[in-house]
Amino acid sequence: MTQTRLAIVGGGIIGRTHADAIRACPGSDLVAIVDPFESGKSLAKDLECPHLETLAALIGLHPDGVIIATPNALHVPQAMTLIRADLPVLVEKPLGDTANSCAALVALSDRTGVPGLVGHHRRHNPIVQAAKTAITEGRFGTLVSGTISATLYKDARYFDVAWRREPGAGGPILINLIHEIDLVRHLFGEITEVTALTSNSQRGFDVEDTAAVILRLETGGLITIALTDAGVGPWCWDTTAGENPARFPAMPAVSHMFAGTQAGMSLPDLSFWTHEGPRDWTVPQVNRLLDRVATDSYIEQIRHFAAVIKGNETPRITLSDGARNIAVIEAIRGSITQRRPVPLGTHRINTSPKPKAMME
Ligand SMILES: NC(=O)c1ccc[n+]([C@@H]2O[C@H](COP(=O)([O-])OP(=O)(O)OC[C@H]3O[C@@H](n4cnc5c(N)ncnc54)[C@H](O)[C@@H]3O)[C@@H](O)[C@H]2O)c1
Repeated sequence: MTQTRLAIVGGGIIGRTHADAIRACPGSDLVAIVDPFESGKSLAKDLECPHLETLAALIGLHPDGVIIATPNALHVPQAMTLIRADLPVLVEKPLGDTANSCAALVALSDRTGVPGLVGHHRRHNPIVQAAKTAITEGRFGTLVSGTISATLYKDARYFDVAWRREPGAGGPILINLIHEIDLVRHLFGEITEVTALTSNSQRGFDVEDTAAVILRLETGGLITIALTDAGVGPWCWDTTAGENPARFPAMPAVSHMFAGTQAGMSLPDLSFWTHEGPRDWTVPQVNRLLDRVATDSYIEQIRHFAAVIKGNETPRITLSDGARNIAVIEAIRGSITQRRPVPLGTHRINTSPKPKAMME
């Protein structure tokens, strides 16, 4: 098997997670970390990996693919430079800072056939895959109502990095909520209308620390999301799913509760509730756990990226998905500023562009 040579641009917190995943993924090698600043240099030193300062130097190295793990505002320009240089990219979420800039990136990838993925890694998680299977097999039915809690308490040091306090780059709507948006769209389909309120009463930054969001789905279901990075509680995917034990403890709590026409399902415990007889609130319900295979989402993401680069798989989370997630976030921002529900329309997500290797 030929090794897939991957580089990481941005050697910060998530850059390290990707580096560990590449090293743990058979068939992939980490060939460079590109980051002109101290954090990237020291990560490269720790990992005894070549360190570069510019994208131009990276392009000269001809890696097979590049992971972009820099601050949000750099994602689209860096991805465009790399795609123009014929290099497939895995871009961390959020794909970009505006839906328009994301659309330009989607168009470039479509035109060139150079593939791109977005780092909404939960779609690689076996818990999400088990939930999706129950939905696609019809055991859950159609989503009627859902409740998602994203309760995180981020310590003060997290906000020492300036962009995390800045509107348009930081804040839990862009950094954390976008994962929930992608998860909802992946499991239940398109979002057609949003309503939201925010508060910054705890931290007092220009960006929100708390939000309440309601989503209307194309299928008619409604989902409410309670989001905060300043409230204490375990009810959050990151702190319950055990997905990144190097960073977060896995607390025994649920963060997602979905009511379907046939069953109820909570995550990440994969509890699946159905009536013992007719669907009726007076009839007892039985609970069982859905099966899942234990795999590491970040390692699976790297395996998938390598398979996309080789033309053996098509992107599971396309650049169009990333762009649509940003469009939902923009609508949420619109709802906050206009103090009203905002419709999104039912624009369809393109199928991912065929990777070059598949076109040839
Ligand atoms: N998928 C996830 O669950 C997840 C988790 C955390 C962060 N993220 C995303 O990853 C990105 C990075 O987040 P982070 O928390 O690791 O941030 P961070 O600040 O810890 O790391 C960013 C790194 O980018 C480097 N950098 C800045 N400008 C650069 C440039 N021009 N070229 C190369 N490197 C440059 C910085 O020196 C720093 O090392 C963000 O977009 C964030 O939303 C995703």
